[in-house]
Parts: sequence; C-alpha cells; structure tokens
Amino acid sequence: MRRSSIQFADLSTGRRVLKQIGLCLDEQEILCSCRCPSTALRLSPKLLNHSTVSEIISTDQLTKTYEMGAELIHALQGVNFTVSENEYVALMGPSGSGKSTLMNLLGCLDTPTSGNYTLAGDRVDKMSDSDLAKVRNSKIGFVFQTFNLMPRLSALENVALPLVYAGISRGERNKRAAEVLTNVGLGDRMDHKPNELSGGQRQRVAVARALINNPNIILADEPTGNLDTKTSIEIMALFDDIHRKGNTVILVTHEPEIAGYAHRVVRMRDGVIESDLRQEPTASLVYSQE
Ligand SMILES: Nc1ncnc2c1ncn2[C@@H]1O[C@H](COP(=O)(O)OP(=O)(O)OP(=O)(O)O)[C@@H](O)[C@H]1O
Ligand SMILES: [Mg+2]
Repeated sequence: MRRSSIQFADLSTGRRVLKQIGLCLDEQEILCSCRCPSTALRLSPKLLNHSTVSEIISTDQLTKTYEMGAELIHALQGVNFTVSENEYVALMGPSGSGKSTLMNLLGCLDTPTSGNYTLAGDRVDKMSDSDLAKVRNSKIGFVFQTFNLMPRLSALENVALPLVYAGISRGERNKRAAEVLTNVGLGDRMDHKPNELSGGQRQRVAVARALINNPNIILADEPTGNLDTKTSIEIMALFDDIHRKGNTVILVTHEPEIAGYAHRVVRMRDGVIESDLRQEPTASLVYSQE
C-alpha cells in the first residue's frame, strides 16, 4: 500500500490513528490527504483492523426525571449517545431540551434515573464513590458558562485547586498551575482574583482549571455563553488546541458559529437525541495554527 493513499478526516485523527497502528507518516502527507479527499484512498482493511478507535463515552437508554413536588420532569427520556476518543462534538437544542442534564451525567456530577453510562470502558454505576471521585478529578475537565471560580482565590489558586484533592504538594501544584495558566495566555495574571479579571480571562482560568489534571475528556456547557465574539474566538482556539492534542471535546452551545468548530453536531429535543451529524469544521483554527 502506498503511504500517500491514506485519508483521514483531519490532522489529529491522522496522528492518533497512525500512532495506534505504529506507522510513521510525514505530517504534510496527512494534511494533504485531509485536504484532497478525492485523490486519497481509504485505509486498507488490514490497517483498519489495527486502527479501531475506542469508545470513550457510551450511554444506553439514559433517563433523568426530576421531582418537583407532585410534578415529574422528564429531562432525559432515553438517550443513546456514543463518543469515540478524540471526537469534537457540539451539543445543541432548544432551551430545556436536556443538554445540561446530559452533560452533568457525562461528567459524573449527577446520577441517572435509569439506563447505563460506560466511561472509558467502565460502568459508572458500578464504581465506588472514591473511584468516581478519582475519575471526575483525573479523566474529565468541566467548563461552565458561569466559570464557577472561587472568588477569594487567585487565578493560580483556582487552577491549582483540583490538585489539592489529588494530594499533590503545594510547590508542585503551583508550578503546574503556572504552566497551564501560561499556556492559556494568562502568565501575567496569576495573582489576580476573579473580580480583577475580564470575562474572557475568567473563562480562560476555568479552562486552565479543567486542564490541570490532563483529563482526556473536556465537557464544556456553553463556555462562550457570557463572552463577546472576539473573546469567544479566543476560547474556541483553546478548545481547538485541546482537541488537536488528542483529547475528546463535547461542548454545549446555542450558537451555530461555535458549533462550526466541532466535527459532529448532536441535536437534542424533549430529552432525546433528535439528530446526529458529522461535518467538516467551518470555523476551526487547526490548519492556520500548524
Ligand atoms: N435540578 C432540577 N430540578 C428540576 N428540574 C430541572 C432541574 N434541572 C433541570 N430541570 C428541568 O429539566 C429540563 C432540562 O433542563 P436542562 O438544564 O438540561 O436544559 P438545557 O437543554 O440545558 O437548557 P438551556 O439551553 O436553557 O440551558 C428542563 O425542563 C428543566 O426545567
Ligand atoms: Mg443548559
């Protein structure tokens, strides 16, 4: 098989699959294959056998019912949702359709009323509380619309906080937090408290906090919901970068421009998945930054 005959959806997929199958390929060749699908052939069956992309998230008939006095609110009504490693998914749908409820279940912040959730091969309902805490702390990074930062702590202390629970020494915590803050462009704002930062800077602190434990899944619930367009683009560049490094990104958004960064758009309505489509990212900064 000629090397140039391999086609990938994008550079990060190419890198990851090639690593899995132990094949060395020039990045230019992968990029060429991404950009010229008409001239590239598919992977041979032999290679495909070795390149099974693993499912990192899988839900089976997930439901969530809230009790409000005598009223039952069926927020999720049987969600079957599968995400493979290094996918970039936008979750959309009308207000009240169940997006945040689903994200909270995926992030192990809440438990379903019925159905199963398998995370990285493990059934979440079978995990002990301490295993669950470990998973939450190490595998998943959560970014919220309202940042959820501790007001009395500095940017550095906010970012270092998850490492306290991981039992890491103070010196090491501060060193790692400083590195991640520098990576998100806040090296000169580490001592600022949240109210001494702009909205975009606060969200970057929240992204840095989500990244501090090197999680492989980033869940972001309307991360740009409170930001202006320019700042939203900066935050989306961070998510692009996280995705390009091989991580899985799921983000909730109401904005089609933000969903344009993703490779797959899942739409919810009335607590179920209404549509699930793959797309070429239209707003991705992947190639311009290479
Ligand atoms: N803690 C709760 N107690 C009771 N009902 C809830 C609770 N959380 C959510 N709901 C209800 O569940 C349904 C789904 O809510 P959810 O927050 O998942 O919607 P959403 O798709 O994220 O909406 P939005 O786009 O407005 O954020 C809504 O009808 C909501 O009122
Ligand atoms: Mg919501």
